[in-house]
Amino acid sequence: MIGKLNHVGIATPSIEAAVTVYRDVLGATSIGERFAMPEQGVWVCFVNLPNSQIELIEPYGDASPIHGFLAKNPMGGQHHVCFEVEDILAARDDLQAKGAKVLGTGEPRIGAHGTPVIFVHPKDMGGVLIELMEVPRGGHA
Ligand code: CO
Repeated sequence: MIGKLNHVGIATPSIEAAVTVYRDVLGATSIGERFAMPEQGVWVCFVNLPNSQIELIEPYGDASPIHGFLAKNPMGGQHHVCFEVEDILAARDDLQAKGAKVLGTGEPRIGAHGTPVIFVHPKDMGGVLIELMEVPRGGHA
C-alpha cells in the first residue's frame, strides 16, 4: 500500500539552528523558506535531497503538538516518517480495519505539501509515528 518515502520529519527547537547543520555541516544545497502551518501548530522548512526530503518542524504557538516531544527530546530529533499513498481515504480505512489508530478525528488534513495527510499512532507502528500523504494528482511532490 505505501509508496515512496516522501520525507522524514525532524522536530527541532530552532529551524534556524537546524538549517545550519544541514547546510553548513552536511552540505545540503537546496533548502526552502520557513513557513507557518498554524492549524498544525508548526513552522516547517524542507531540506531537499536527491531522493527525498527532510521536514524540519518547530513549534508554532503554545498549543503545538510537538512541545511534548521537545520536552522529552530537548535537542530535537526524528519525529515521524512520511510515506506516499495513492488514496488517503482508502489507506485510512484499510489501516483502521486492521486495528491501527489514526490520530485526531481520523479525517485527513491538508499537509505541508498541500495534499491530504493522516498520522498513525506509534503504538501500532513499531514505535514510529507514521504520516501518510496522498500523492498530488498528476505526479509526485
Ligand atoms: Co511530515
